[in-house]
Amino acid sequence: MHAAFTRSALTPLRAAATVRAVTQRRAASSAAAVATGSTKTVSKPTHPDTEPDAATAAAISRYEKYTINTYSRPPVLFTRGSGVHMYDSAGREFMDFSAGIAVNALGHSDPELARVLHEQANQVMHFSNLFYNEHAGRLAELLVTSVRDDPSAPGFNAGKVFFANSGTEANEGALKFARKWGKLVAEKRGRNPEKKYGVVAFTNAFHGRSLGALSATYNPKYQEPFAPLVPGFVTAPFNDVAGLDAFVNEETCAVIVEPVQGEGGVHPASEEFLRTLRKKCDEVGALLIFDEIQCGIGRTGKLWAHQHYPTDCHPDILTMAKPLANGFPIGAIMTTDRVADTIKIGDHGTTFGGSPLACRAALSVFSRIRDASFLSHVRDVGAHLERQLGTHLQERHPSLITEVRGRGLILGLQFARDPTSLVKMARERGLIIITAAGNSVRIMPPLIITKEQADKGVRLLAEAVDEFAATA
Ligand SMILES: Cc1ncc(COP(=O)(O)O)c(C=O)c1O
Repeated sequence: MHAAFTRSALTPLRAAATVRAVTQRRAASSAAAVATGSTKTVSKPTHPDTEPDAATAAAISRYEKYTINTYSRPPVLFTRGSGVHMYDSAGREFMDFSAGIAVNALGHSDPELARVLHEQANQVMHFSNLFYNEHAGRLAELLVTSVRDDPSAPGFNAGKVFFANSGTEANEGALKFARKWGKLVAEKRGRNPEKKYGVVAFTNAFHGRSLGALSATYNPKYQEPFAPLVPGFVTAPFNDVAGLDAFVNEETCAVIVEPVQGEGGVHPASEEFLRTLRKKCDEVGALLIFDEIQCGIGRTGKLWAHQHYPTDCHPDILTMAKPLANGFPIGAIMTTDRVADTIKIGDHGTTFGGSPLACRAALSVFSRIRDASFLSHVRDVGAHLERQLGTHLQERHPSLITEVRGRGLILGLQFARDPTSLVKMARERGLIIITAAGNSVRIMPPLIITKEQADKGVRLLAEAVDEFAATA
């Protein structure tokens, strides 16, 4: 369906890259044509990783010296962001196709959010959860009604919200709620309440790094150094309907699943899979938890990812975080009234969760994202970007890129081999991308991205993929 991206069509891209190289002093001074093993020459990096200036080098080495290092970082210091762009300490502009791992839905340095934060910071930032706070109540109401009362896209039967500070914390709370639920259900069913604590999670899932959430994040690299993990967690194959019988049973208190796996490589759950999960949870009296931390809040083109599925696929609990306040830390657990009613005073708590500042920011951000025209923009640009990735990348390198998949603006490119080195090749052309499990690359720009900006990002990525293809 996609027209092939011909060799001659690439010529203007290379010309554009040359112009960029000339106009960027730092790039021009150090960029060299990348001679590949073959006779083919690919475009020069416009944003090469060069020796940082003295102040940048000092900032990086201070960071290295005094922080516990759990991430492998490039030698670039980003100091500013605006819209879909990030800027480094040398003033170089990068197109952001990662949105801070699906956080900056409204882009960087959104002026309206900056205004709201400033205003609220001048009023009050934190009182503690020992007192009521007007913004938390308003935000909870908005979240619940956005799920429950949208006639155009029915969501689950939400009733109440608990505010946390991150995605991990939201999942951790959801798992605790499920453990309590399990005991109550077992008692009602005349079974041993101490035995109904099993949690079923899935291959390639990511739910966080605290001990509970990590127990549901099946990845030996993340889990093994911290074993033994929380008892009762099992991992079932994702999207395998027939396999579920072996995992979900009377001792299960919860099943936790991402409607679209993010870190796992951008894999949407099939409708049949979610429907079967719903049915099995009802049979055994377990709660179905949807982790929409990465795929929720507009990213898929609907406000909530589960709104892509019919009501017989819907959860009892939904967790959210990342874009809720566009980068200001906040997470939330949203449950049906039935679940909320089992949680009593003293059962759970947090010092910072649901602060006036976080909730006021989230109110502003969420109100904008839930707007019908905003969501229609996400669907429109998402479909366009997916087509462009198909035309300019997959059709040009069909044996290297075997699939373009996803929904809205959470898109994945499936590579035939490990694409880790592509991240640097893209960054050295001014484009930020991130990988995901199973040799895939995630494309998740800020949701405000225009088609023209998306096209520019695809052009930069096409140049990087040319280099990657040539380095087989
Ligand atoms: C689906 C999903 N769940 C949970 C988390 C953990 O969220 P956080 O990093 O905010 O703790 C992430 C983070 O990437 C995620 O993608």
